[in-house]
Amino acid sequence: MRPPRRVFVTGATGFVGRAVVHALRAHGHVVRCLVRRGSEHDLRGFEAIERVEGDVLAPATLERGMAGCDTVVHLVGIIREHPAAGVTFERIHAEGTVNVLDVAARSGVRRYLHMSALGTRPDARARYHQTKWAAEEAVRSSPLAWTIFRPSVIYGPGDGFVTMLAGMVRRFPVVPVIGSGLQRLQPLPVAQVAEGFARAVELDATVKQGYEVGGPDAVTMIALLDLVGDALGRRRVRKLRVPIGIVWSMARLLHRLPGFPLTPDQLLMLEENSTCDPRRFHAAFGLEPVPLRQGLRAMLG
Ligand SMILES: NC(=O)c1ccc[n+]([C@@H]2O[C@H](COP(=O)([O-])OP(=O)(O)OC[C@H]3O[C@@H](n4cnc5c(N)ncnc54)[C@H](OP(=O)(O)O)[C@@H]3O)[C@@H](O)[C@H]2O)c1
Repeated sequence: MRPPRRVFVTGATGFVGRAVVHALRAHGHVVRCLVRRGSEHDLRGFEAIERVEGDVLAPATLERGMAGCDTVVHLVGIIREHPAAGVTFERIHAEGTVNVLDVAARSGVRRYLHMSALGTRPDARARYHQTKWAAEEAVRSSPLAWTIFRPSVIYGPGDGFVTMLAGMVRRFPVVPVIGSGLQRLQPLPVAQVAEGFARAVELDATVKQGYEVGGPDAVTMIALLDLVGDALGRRRVRKLRVPIGIVWSMARLLHRLPGFPLTPDQLLMLEENSTCDPRRFHAAFGLEPVPLRQGLRAMLG
């Protein structure tokens, strides 16, 4: 049996990060987490991990964090910018990744696992995807033994998306659907993504490979709402289509208001399908695909 790795995790306090830390610990690895000041409480319950205070935009904190580690899992990403605070997609996705890669290469790290997103491509419409592409390009040109993951929507307790849909189905008599509602998504449970990362640490065949990651079912937004309703025991989810033009006008005007749920960049992504052929991912990591109905019932039922 190989000795446990010492794994440095960025984004550990996030929804996906907490699941990845759990999976890495279950595989017996020693885990050190980068934690921003004020976010320590998000790692409550994880007793046997090391914590280093820092930020991906502060390379000195990354040096402290990676000292003595042989593996890096880089999960940091944002869905919303705060330009006044210097928080932009360019800085967090591209500059943050370059910082992590530079420090990793200097610190003697051997293995590097990178979180990207489905839809990331050079000619992407959304800046979220454009900057994730810039980050991927930096990863591909690094000397480290890298693996890139590009998931569709990830669901599980504490997520942003399915929890929001479930909240609307529970509380609203009629649930708004943006545009046609025919855009397709391929959600998968967070535990599968986390297990993929944990297994990748030791899977040499996955070095210098990128994986599109999704569940077995590609469903429309409308079908997803019905499945969420099914998991919550609702016979029927009433829906109201909101014309995309109206949502665009509101998002352009209001997206900087705290609490407004959508940015123009998110709308661009919502207009696209987020689907892939995930069989290569499931095969490479020896994972059994979880049918969406079953996964949502386990999460919400
Ligand atoms: N959730 C999905 O459906 C999905 C799908 C595809 C790809 N992804 C990708 O998966 C990754 C994790 O997503 P998530 O849903 O877990 O997001 P999340 O819950 O918002 O977590 C983001 C993490 O990044 C950290 N972070 C943000 N800015 C940072 C900075 N400047 N320095 C250090 N840490 C920073 C956050 O720290 P704080 O706790 O301090 O804020 C948090 O730990 C992202 O790269 C995202 O793009 C997610």
